[in-house]
This record gives sequence, structure tokens and C-alpha cells, in this order.
Amino acid sequence: MGFSEFVIMEKRVLIPRHEIQIKVKDLARQISSDFAGKEPILIGILNGVVFFFADLVMSLSIPSKIDFIRASSYGSSKASSGAIKLVKDVEIPVRGQDLIVVEDIVDTGLTLNYLVKNLKSREPASVKICALIDKAERRENEVKIDYCGFRVQEGFLVGYGLDYAEKYRYLPDICVIE
Ligand code: IMP
Ligand code: MG
Repeated sequence: MGFSEFVIMEKRVLIPRHEIQIKVKDLARQISSDFAGKEPILIGILNGVVFFFADLVMSLSIPSKIDFIRASSYGSSKASSGAIKLVKDVEIPVRGQDLIVVEDIVDTGLTLNYLVKNLKSREPASVKICALIDKAERRENEVKIDYCGFRVQEGFLVGYGLDYAEKYRYLPDICVIE
């Protein structure tokens, strides 16, 4: 991308922490109501999802199980390589279970599409998708996001788990790099 590691990038707060918290509670309420009487397995897509995932799971008012999956797609920059492979699989058997796949941000949709197809091939009872951020304008693969936090038009986002070349995940707000 031509960005030098030594260039200090400007970050502007796009979604402050308190707005994230309100939205996460709202998503948790919807999921708890839709899955009342059930015990879904929430599957977090590592690594970016970690803070969102923890906040979401702890805000649910229903019992749940958690597991994680990891795919490699983006390298260390802002450009997608296009090729996706499974780097870490779930460990709980998913056959016959209600799954909620939790993602930080959906961009082209390649990652989520690949992972959901993979999980569906193991015959779970149901698969729903929850994403904190939907960057719909770059979508290449159609993905039905059942629970969506924020729709963002453009820009590269960091913070609250999101990284740029593994940096800035620790920021409490969601920021846009300018
Ligand atoms: P997709 O396969 O193009 O939908 O890309 C999804 C993955 O790319 C997400 O899980 C993120 O890890 C990463 N990604 C996409 N857009 C951003 C962004 O704006 N900031 C940080 N990571 C992003
Ligand atoms: Mg990710």
C-alpha cells in the first residue's frame, strides 16, 4: 500500500466506546430474545472479534457456549490476498447445534462466506451471523447478516479489536485511519 511503518497515521474516532456499548447491549437483547429457551454456540472469528465477542457474550441473558475459528485472508496490510484458508477450527462438535458466527467487520464477505459454508457442511441445526460492522459497499460475496451493529460507508477502521498490520487493536474506540 506504500504506507511506511514509520509514517504516523492520523486516527479519527468514528464510533466512541459508549456508543459501542449501547449497540452491543442492543444486539445481545435481540439474540437473547430470538434464542430464548436455547443454548447457542457463539463462534468468534479470531483475532479482531475478541473484545466485541466478550462484551456480547457477557451481555446475553440466555446460556451459551463459546468457541473460536480463524481464517487467514488479509495479510499484514489493508489489501486482501483473496485466498482464504482455515487456520484454527472450532473444537466443540457443531452438528445439530444452533450456531451464531460472530465477526468484527464484514468487508468483501469472502471470509465469512467461506467460514459459514464450511460450518454448514457439518449439519448444524441453524447458523446465524452477527457482525459489529458492515462495510457493504465492497461486498463481493452475498452475506446475510442477521444481527448487524453499525453500517459504515468507507474507510479503514481500527480499534476495539480491529487492526492495521496488527497495530491499534487495543484502542477502546473504533477509529478511522486517514
Ligand atoms: P472480508 O473477507 O473482505 O469480508 O474481510 C473481513 C476481514 O478483513 C475482517 O475479519 C477483518 O479482519 C478484516 N478487515 C476488513 N476491513 C477492515 C477494516 O476496515 N479494519 C480492520 N480490519 C478489516
Ligand atoms: Mg477479522
